Amino acid sequence: MGYSKTILVTGGAGFIGSHVVRLLVNKYSDYRIVNFDKLTYAGNLKNLTDVENAPNYAFVKGDICDREALKNVFEEYNVSDVIHLAAESHVDRSIEGPMEFVMTNVVGTVNLLQQAKDSWNGEGNHVFHHVSTDEVYGSLGDEGLFEEITAYDPRSPYSASKASSDHFVRAFYHTYGLPIKMSNCSNNYGSHHFPEKLIPLMINNIVHKKPLPIYGKGDNIRDWLWVVDHASAIETIFHKGRVGESYNVGGLNEWTNIALVKHLCRLMDQKLGRSEGESEQLITYVTDRAGHDMRYAIDATKLESELNWKPSVTFEEGLDHTVDWYLNNSEWIEEITSGSYREYYESMYDNR
Ligand code: NAD
Ligand code: DAU
Repeated sequence: MGYSKTILVTGGAGFIGSHVVRLLVNKYSDYRIVNFDKLTYAGNLKNLTDVENAPNYAFVKGDICDREALKNVFEEYNVSDVIHLAAESHVDRSIEGPMEFVMTNVVGTVNLLQQAKDSWNGEGNHVFHHVSTDEVYGSLGDEGLFEEITAYDPRSPYSASKASSDHFVRAFYHTYGLPIKMSNCSNNYGSHHFPEKLIPLMINNIVHKKPLPIYGKGDNIRDWLWVVDHASAIETIFHKGRVGESYNVGGLNEWTNIALVKHLCRLMDQKLGRSEGESEQLITYVTDRAGHDMRYAIDATKLESELNWKPSVTFEEGLDHTVDWYLNNSEWIEEITSGSYREYYESMYDNR
């Protein structure tokens, strides 16, 4: 079949990438979706078993730092567009070892930009959509929201690497005219989220009655968005966003970490038939994350007013779906937590 677009989705086996791949494969039978992923500890093809046999889906194992592999995939599939999600994504890991973040997030992104520039050669109708984070803007006090014009002020090795990649993406637009679009999103949650991140870690630990480690006093604030809504925002920006522009993505759902974990404890006590207050007793305050950003909060007005996007669920609804998914898919998380991840997590936890 002749496809109207062939979209290379990098990092499609990860948490957000798998939701983007699923959405595009199911909704656009005239698009071919090529998932290019290195399958690091965070990549898992079991995230995509429901679409793996679709005729418009292909998987290529590869590293965005490997220029030859990128050249091959662009040529073999005649890639017309890119949605770039491949990254090292966990702040705590970036504190333990920043170099992997420099390699994938900075060097890998520049490799990919160069390959797209060389393959497209300034001709035709293409989009290079770079998926980034609100952490590039730094840390907020009690007031204010991150806007697209907020000055970059990254503070962790992870956010410094993402900010650097954002700068390179803009540089390729201004210098070479590469048709880029960018999105900067707040904290995601939902199914297939690797259990080193706050929400899936807490869900899994509540199930197993293990300690719930809260960094510092638990008063840091994050702004949460259901991953399915992030995927729909990416779909919208990819199709309708203006070339050269960036769009903030978020749903105005600010929670302190401690309030969120207590809410989760109450919800799961009900779902698991436990007595009220039982899971809250597992809360354990541990040493704070180094350089812990205090508050993130996104102003998504530009995306909402210009492109008519809005989130489809409230935080409470999204969290309810998410907890149900983890309870109904315990083998997914068991497989991850019984492997080398367990050793990693236990060593991190011992350090705090
Ligand atoms: P993730 O860690 O779950 O997945 C990352 C994926 O990238 C994995 O499948 C991994 O195998 C792949 N990958 C890593 N290095 C690679 C390389 N060198 N070559 C090819 N593939 C490689 O991450 P996520 O949470 O799904 O985040 C995806 C993107 O969205 C990242 O760019 C991240 O910065 C951004 N983002 C994440 C959030 C969030 O809350 N998780 C919010 C905003 C933006
Ligand atoms: O804002 C977007 C970013 O959100 C993405 O760019 C990152 O890829 C993603 O990992 C996420 O970063 P955070 O550092 O905000 O997410 P994390 O789940 O690691 O932590 C959320 C908050 O919870 C943060 O304030 C630290 C705290 N925390 C985290 C863990 C893992 C705890 O208190 N205890 C924990 O065990």
